[in-house]
Amino acid sequence: MSDAGAGVLICEADALAEGGRGLRFAVAAFGDAATGFVVRYHGQVYGYLNRCAHVPIELDWAEGEFFESSGLYLMCSTHGAIYLPDSGLCAGGPCKGGRLRPIAVREEGGKIYWQPDEFIRPPFIPIHPQHDDL
Ligand code: FES
Repeated sequence: MSDAGAGVLICEADALAEGGRGLRFAVAAFGDAATGFVVRYHGQVYGYLNRCAHVPIELDWAEGEFFESSGLYLMCSTHGAIYLPDSGLCAGGPCKGGRLRPIAVREEGGKIYWQPDEFIRPPFIPIHPQHDDL
């Protein structure tokens, strides 16, 4: 299911509809169990850590429901912060000035992958703080 060089498989590309439901995936973020998510917006796939910039809780109150009703913004279901889908910048609400933590994603060969980085990793890879020469 995963290929370290190519990133980690999330789903088939056609599973993500324009402005539709997002897909969640498990990650280890800064050493803690968390989720990331991907959405499609203006034809592109965007990935973020599923954590509001206001209070560190998940955005979607119903699984995969990240867009608000206009389909123009991602919205935190708890206190209504809205984010620009293509940058993760907060455009209004209690997190104004903040932004979602991006996760690099790639659409290739009809599939969508995410790319682990220094702080966001697949949940099954243990993090060893003393071994930073990966
Ligand atoms: S927790 Fe997301 S807007 Fe407050």
